[in-house]
Amino acid sequence: MNKSILSLAFAALTISGAYAQNPKFTLHIDEANKNVSPTLYGMMTEEINFSYEGGLYAQLVRNGSFKDDVNGQRKNPWTPWKPGGPQYWTLTDTVAAKMHVDPRGGFNEANKSALVLDVKVNNGGVAIDNEGFWGYPVKSKAHYNGAIWAKAGDGNAKSLKISLVSLDGKTVYASTQVQGLSEKWQKFEFSLNIAAKVALSKKAKLRIAVGETGKYLLDRVTLFPETFNGRKNGLRVDLMTMMKNMNPKFLRFPGGNYLEGNDFKNRFDWKRTIGNPDERPGHMSPWGYRSTDGLGLLEFLTWAEDCGAEPILGVFAGYVLSGDYISGEYCDGFVQDALDEIEYVIGGPETKWGAQRIKDGHPEPFPLHYVEIGNEDFFDNSGSYPGRYKRFYEAIKAKYPQLQCISTIDAKMMSEQAKRAGIEDVKLDVIDEHYYRDCDDMYRAAHQYDTYDRKGPKIFCGEWATREGKPTTNMNAALGDAAWMTAMERNSDIVVAHCYAPLFVNVNKGGMQWESDLIGVDTHKAYGSPSYYAQVMFANHVGDKIVPVTVEDMPKMKLGKGGESDQVFYSVTRDSKNGNVYLKLVNGGKNAQPVTFALDGVKTVKGKAEKWQLSSAQTTDTNSMDEPTKIVPVASKAAVGKNFTVTLDPSSIVVLTLQTK
Ligand code: AHR
Repeated sequence: MNKSILSLAFAALTISGAYAQNPKFTLHIDEANKNVSPTLYGMMTEEINFSYEGGLYAQLVRNGSFKDDVNGQRKNPWTPWKPGGPQYWTLTDTVAAKMHVDPRGGFNEANKSALVLDVKVNNGGVAIDNEGFWGYPVKSKAHYNGAIWAKAGDGNAKSLKISLVSLDGKTVYASTQVQGLSEKWQKFEFSLNIAAKVALSKKAKLRIAVGETGKYLLDRVTLFPETFNGRKNGLRVDLMTMMKNMNPKFLRFPGGNYLEGNDFKNRFDWKRTIGNPDERPGHMSPWGYRSTDGLGLLEFLTWAEDCGAEPILGVFAGYVLSGDYISGEYCDGFVQDALDEIEYVIGGPETKWGAQRIKDGHPEPFPLHYVEIGNEDFFDNSGSYPGRYKRFYEAIKAKYPQLQCISTIDAKMMSEQAKRAGIEDVKLDVIDEHYYRDCDDMYRAAHQYDTYDRKGPKIFCGEWATREGKPTTNMNAALGDAAWMTAMERNSDIVVAHCYAPLFVNVNKGGMQWESDLIGVDTHKAYGSPSYYAQVMFANHVGDKIVPVTVEDMPKMKLGKGGESDQVFYSVTRDSKNGNVYLKLVNGGKNAQPVTFALDGVKTVKGKAEKWQLSSAQTTDTNSMDEPTKIVPVASKAAVGKNFTVTLDPSSIVVLTLQTK
């Protein structure tokens, strides 16, 4: 080799930051004795980034109960309410009619506000338009079910015409009449059907036109397109399908910060989220907008069920995000709430809350193994968590000894705070750890769990993400995620479960509160980030036994922020029933990397393995609403045997399925 070729090769290695060295992996298949946790891969959710309102919860009308008033105000409690106008609604003719929100005009306690529409002239053009959550989805043969509460404020108002129309109002996609308004509140149910050929679009709005002059009072307008499994008050088909494809074994809900709320009034108060959706008052999400609680406790549970997952139930534990907390015997009301909630989830017909669940439409109890006490209580500077945790833990264990309780602070913090507070004998089953990192830090952490004390409490990594890219993550983030997932899977004898967060982001302007999310959502479409596809690949290829691996000659790579890490990340599991060995590999380097494998303890290995690969030309590449499938897993076959070499593409994630039976 001449000198210039040599220096070129050296330059390439310097740029890539990797050292030329081929690692050798010996897989000790016959020593695969430790179990992979059956709940290892799951999902975490909360109302953030318009995940439900304007996202998964299929209801399309925004501010349907007229609770969000643009200018409505009361200077102080003793001055009269000065009405404004309803947010997200527009009056088409402000001369012929006037509208305002009456905060005390609604049809029940949960819906105290109503829209008052005073029509002076019936010129055929008076209507109110709802803009929805950044539009309404329309397409050929779409069918919608809706409802509206209405009454006549005088003897004249009698009928309404409800339509889905284009933004300029010129195209009517679907329309129906509502007749028989009277001076009593009534609920009118209706359906809209799009018969014509219509290209998928969100450039549409809901129009409610008046039939007569007169005074109309309107409240709680809802409209649902087709829902997953046809559930009433249900969830979006496309998003549920995407989640099902993640093969999740659990759903952690309802948060996250959404569990705690900014203040006590706005915590996730589960009893106000069940039963008839018309009777749910809703509350403010800590992420700055209103939740109708249409997606309430039962909808969370059936969501999990419809995805083949079990709930990991977060119970409110007396601490809110403002820093307020209730402890000692004062928090026993919340302890009782948690016990009631668990009873709602798993109780039989003989129990009060089990009977309530049956009445609400779900006769069978749900499976439940884990209950999390609070969320991120390491933010509670008062040190009240050990005391609160202990009260919840002991009450839950006394009634449900089969359940595992999850602490939101680690063993060290728990013991220090407990000592300071004079609290003894705090027991820990599982600790929830949260990690939001960049890709390099994920690489650096890839051996974190290898050294965890096997005798200590188990680990639930209840929130984690490689935060690179926005609104959804890029390929580099997917590499960091995959490296981190190998770390958790290799150690899933102690890591019992893990889930990425946040799950969804509404990609419209104003939709995102938290950058770097898994699935991008618009009202009519959705797409998965590269991180999403890494999850799909990993969670669909996992055995029940962890295969020990000996690694020799691991190449190291330099990291952007300084220091170095391994270049190749790995995890191997085996399915003891069908003998499949799942080999997960991540090449963090910018160079192609040959890796050599030797399989110990198997008699035969089929010559061709199924191979899935996720990669892209640039690590900053990403998917988007316009290019939803730019980066997706690609299938091929790889030549394998008892001894073989695979060359990993630069910056790639690979899953191989080897058949050893
Ligand atoms: O996932 C976003 C937020 O991050 C969660 O609500 C909270 O638990 C964490 O701080």
